[in-house]
Amino acid sequence: MAEDEGSASNDFAHEPGVPREEITRRYALWAQSAKYEKDLREEVYKGPSIAADVVAEYFPNENLRKSARILDVAAGSGFVGEKLKEKNFQTIDALEPCGQMLQLALKKGIYNHIFQSYLNGHVLEIEADHYDAAVISGGMGEGHIPCSGLDELIRVIKPGGIATIVMREEYLRSVAEYRDRLEPRMWELEGQRKWRRLARDLVPGYSFQNTGVVFVFRVLEESGKLKGR
Ligand SMILES: C[S@@+](CC[C@H](N)C(=O)[O-])C[C@H]1O[C@@H](n2cnc3c(N)ncnc32)[C@H](O)[C@@H]1O
Repeated sequence: MAEDEGSASNDFAHEPGVPREEITRRYALWAQSAKYEKDLREEVYKGPSIAADVVAEYFPNENLRKSARILDVAAGSGFVGEKLKEKNFQTIDALEPCGQMLQLALKKGIYNHIFQSYLNGHVLEIEADHYDAAVISGGMGEGHIPCSGLDELIRVIKPGGIATIVMREEYLRSVAEYRDRLEPRMWELEGQRKWRRLARDLVPGYSFQNTGVVFVFRVLEESGKLKGR
């Protein structure tokens, strides 16, 4: 990792063709360098605040926020958890594959449970229908969460619960894993009555002046069929 790579962009953690283990290693170096949180400060990376605002919309009062169980997927150093905590969410778990990122997150004392794991096609050690909401901010990209992660995301969310995905909009086209696949898979899952789309909004200036896209889905009762796996 070059000395100032992270300060201008996050490109080195999104290099095409790099296996996920190498992506995780790069995040580990970034976290250890103590630059990660500075490089992704709120002025340049708005994913966490956008994500927390969206989740909060669907839990509009104190009681709902106090009782809701939230899973922060690709939690990184805990930025999303911090924002959710500010909004009085009490029960937040983190799923994150990179141990060094989790060390940063752990210091903040935000998360109830930590799962050191990837979200991909494999079944997580989380029971079905456990969460009222799951949120992904910045976890989509080259070598990051693959399309197959959507099924597992749905499995761990309760019927009626909310899935929020905030990502760079151009990745829908520039990342081979997502091009002509990610959104079609989202709509296919909707066609199968696993979830229903509540929003697909563009957000200018999401990260490093790039436009973001926010997807929000409500998991449906019928999703149970998928959860019998
Ligand atoms: C840019 S950080 C975002 C962290 C945090 N969500 C935020 O918005 O500040 C991306 C994170 O995604 C994690 N990640 C990459 N691939 C993943 C996968 N398949 N499942 C879960 N997390 C993944 C990385 O380890 C990294 O911590």
